[in-house]
Amino acid sequence: MDSHYSSAAISVRGLKKSYGNTLALRGVDLEIQQGEIFALLGPNGAGKTTIVEILEGFRHRDEGDVAVLGIDPNRQPMALKIRIGIVLQSTGVERYLSVAETVKMYSSYYPHPRPVGEILGLVGLEAKRDERVLRLSGGQQRRLDVAIALAGDPDLLFLDEPTTGFDPSARREVWEVIKNLQSLGKTVVLTTHFMDEAQYLADRLAIIANGKIVAEGEPETLAGRDRMLATVRFSLPDGVVPPLHLGARMTAAHAYEVKTTLVTKDLFDLTSWAMSAGVDLEDLRVDRPTLEDVYLELTTEGGASKSKEVES
Ligand SMILES: Nc1ncnc2c1ncn2[C@@H]1O[C@H](COP(=O)(O)OP(=O)(O)OP(=O)(O)O)[C@@H](O)[C@H]1O
Ligand SMILES: [Mg+2]
Repeated sequence: MDSHYSSAAISVRGLKKSYGNTLALRGVDLEIQQGEIFALLGPNGAGKTTIVEILEGFRHRDEGDVAVLGIDPNRQPMALKIRIGIVLQSTGVERYLSVAETVKMYSSYYPHPRPVGEILGLVGLEAKRDERVLRLSGGQQRRLDVAIALAGDPDLLFLDEPTTGFDPSARREVWEVIKNLQSLGKTVVLTTHFMDEAQYLADRLAIIANGKIVAEGEPETLAGRDRMLATVRFSLPDGVVPPLHLGARMTAAHAYEVKTTLVTKDLFDLTSWAMSAGVDLEDLRVDRPTLEDVYLELTTEGGASKSKEVES
């Protein structure tokens, strides 16, 4: 346990926080390893920003133990701030400065800044280095936000909804920037409302609901997702019915589905029958529960029973 602890970039135990009568965090435990991309997912008001701001040293906790890069953010906020980078949801950068001037200005706040040219390379803004900030596109401005967060060459970055409001290609570009950070050995903590973003970027993620973590793990296996039933769907020509042993259920005229954990075997049985009967399985496909299915199951009222299978 000790060696595990020492490689943790972030370690949180029993974290609680209230705002007046609002219990925002009801006992959160979290362990984020160095070099990991970790995503916090959860509905509005779940407590994500509260967690992140406590980790950044911007908010005080009521109860619990918190260590960020070995530092207690309550006790040594300044020591922590020079070692982390923060991308806020919206930033107020001086719009008439150039890209390079902006990054240089932020670099000057840190004892060991990363060279400006290097930072612009990392976020893909070299070609825009002398452009005024106000002329950047939304996606380029977000890259500049990341560049600013990198100014002090931090080991740990917090990104609050890094791609909200972006078009699909701008989102992809920011994703690549974030993957780039990981290849430099940085630890990244991000909040997002996008399942595909968490799926693509996160090594591990936590789903927060009502001030508690309701699931934590790798995107592929979260909450037993990989062990949940898959659905095989197909349609049959007029007048053809599937033999009983396939266990297919009719869902609409000519449309059938088989719920299964044995996808390979059931597909084999199904296609063997179809080949020997000379039947075409129209629209044959396999659907598995998505991260979104799991998320909705865990965060929607009435969908809380974890053992229940998620139907897609
Ligand atoms: N400064 C504050 N004063 C009072 N209540 C607050 C304050 N900040 C947050 N809260 C409350 O704490 C709870 C958690 O809020 P928080 O901002 O952490 O949620 P979130 O998960 O970041 O939500 P979102 O997805 O909307 O950003 C909410 O009920 C919110 O109303
Ligand atoms: Mg928030």
